[in-house]
Amino acid sequence: MNKEKIIIFDTTLRDGEQCPGASLNIDEKTEIAKQLAVLGVDVIEAGFPISSPGDFESVKRVAKEVKGPSICGLARAIEKDIDAAYDAVKYSKSPRIHVFLATSKIHMKYKLKKAEDEILRLAVRAVKYAGMKCSDVEFSPEDASRTERDFLYRVVDAVIRAGAKTVNIPDTVGYSTPFEFSQIIKGIYENVPCVDKAVISVHCHNDLGLGVANSLAAVLNGARQVECTINGIGERAGNASLEEIVMAIRTRSDIFKDLKADINTKEIFKTSRLVSKLTGMIVQSNKAIVGANAFAHEAGIHQDGVLKERITYEIMRPEDVGVTETKMVLGKHSGRHAFKERLKRLGFTLKENQLEEAFNRFKILADKKKEIFDEDLEAIIDEGISKIPEDLKLKHFHIESGDRTKPSAVVTVNYKGKLYDSTSCGDGPVDACFKAIDKIVRVGGKLLDYQVKSVTSGKDALGEVSVKIGSKSGVVSGRGASTDIIEASIKAYINAVNKLLYKK
Ligand code: KIV
Ligand code: ZN
Repeated sequence: MNKEKIIIFDTTLRDGEQCPGASLNIDEKTEIAKQLAVLGVDVIEAGFPISSPGDFESVKRVAKEVKGPSICGLARAIEKDIDAAYDAVKYSKSPRIHVFLATSKIHMKYKLKKAEDEILRLAVRAVKYAGMKCSDVEFSPEDASRTERDFLYRVVDAVIRAGAKTVNIPDTVGYSTPFEFSQIIKGIYENVPCVDKAVISVHCHNDLGLGVANSLAAVLNGARQVECTINGIGERAGNASLEEIVMAIRTRSDIFKDLKADINTKEIFKTSRLVSKLTGMIVQSNKAIVGANAFAHEAGIHQDGVLKERITYEIMRPEDVGVTETKMVLGKHSGRHAFKERLKRLGFTLKENQLEEAFNRFKILADKKKEIFDEDLEAIIDEGISKIPEDLKLKHFHIESGDRTKPSAVVTVNYKGKLYDSTSCGDGPVDACFKAIDKIVRVGGKLLDYQVKSVTSGKDALGEVSVKIGSKSGVVSGRGASTDIIEASIKAYINAVNKLLYKK
């Protein structure tokens, strides 16, 4: 069956950028717009060109450089706004001008100080003016959800007759509810004589947390364009989130039967991360679809269920939105099944009694620590079961370093009961120490990762170093702690080398 397409109008760069603290420069806007094109949105509202020279330039650059989607610029119902919008978007293959004018009693009385007939006249005039410049004109009766219904129908009809190809119904202040918003859209279809000459769009804000619900209710009542933003960013509480709308339509195809959004959903996560990084707007962990926990399970019963059959607790596949895998968070609520699976993935196959012992140690640690990482598990196993023999032990070390000295180290170790001294130079004192150790014990490994972190605070903070060494026998990690970072580094390296020796 041929599904009808819901036009995805992305306003991340216009309404999204209006959210406090999210402003983007021209390069950042262009980068996001290019990614939105890869995501496959149909329309990019790139900005409000009259609002500042910077915004004008960004819309112009996006229109010049971004291929695929229509590029749209916002304008008040004023000629100079429409001129600026057109001058910025005209470089696109499919430019669009989006004109808005408030129609609710509250806005007309307090903000515009104009009566209904005057508003109607201005709206029609603006749409006609925009239509003389650009064949694709969208009109929004701002605060539509709080507009008197009969007046709303008159405005929608008049702007369509004036040439608007899309009429967008904004819930500007996020005041509506799904039932009420459905009635508004239904009412438009039933009471606007030339409604079939335009696409009815919706633009829902999230002040009551209903932005997505209202947009979807509108879609079920005939709206065929949805205005939304990545991560739901936007004025105040934000706009309806693009990823939630797209995934709802896709996941609940039983409800949105003959509808589809042509979005490359595998690009969702990447786009979300890019927008978050460039706007500085952090995505909350429990945010639907793109939050860090959206595909993470911690409860033992859930982990067990997902490991047996994913659909027990997952309604979408993480890879469909570009998330590489389901995350099993190991914490105090996790059960044996998830614990055992993770160990298996890390390459540990334990006997039943070893597993039981390790699981008990894991539970003790999980009571103290919120999340148990792979390194913690390795430590649990190393400490309890394998008991890695300490063939190699640090005795002393001496380093020389400075901005005019080639870093060098003398390291004394006890290796299988005998003392050895070794000297080496390096790129830095740590590198010199590691090279000195390599001269004594040749495990043939390669340092893959080196990290230092402070485990206590204050001037006498204890530094913890973790290293990863890769060799033919696999990857091992090592840890060492000391108030001296060089010593902590040597200990971590020796710890990893001992594991490699044991594996060999
Ligand atoms: O929320 C709103 O009403 C708007 C319009 C400009 C469409 O952003
Ligand atoms: Zn808005």
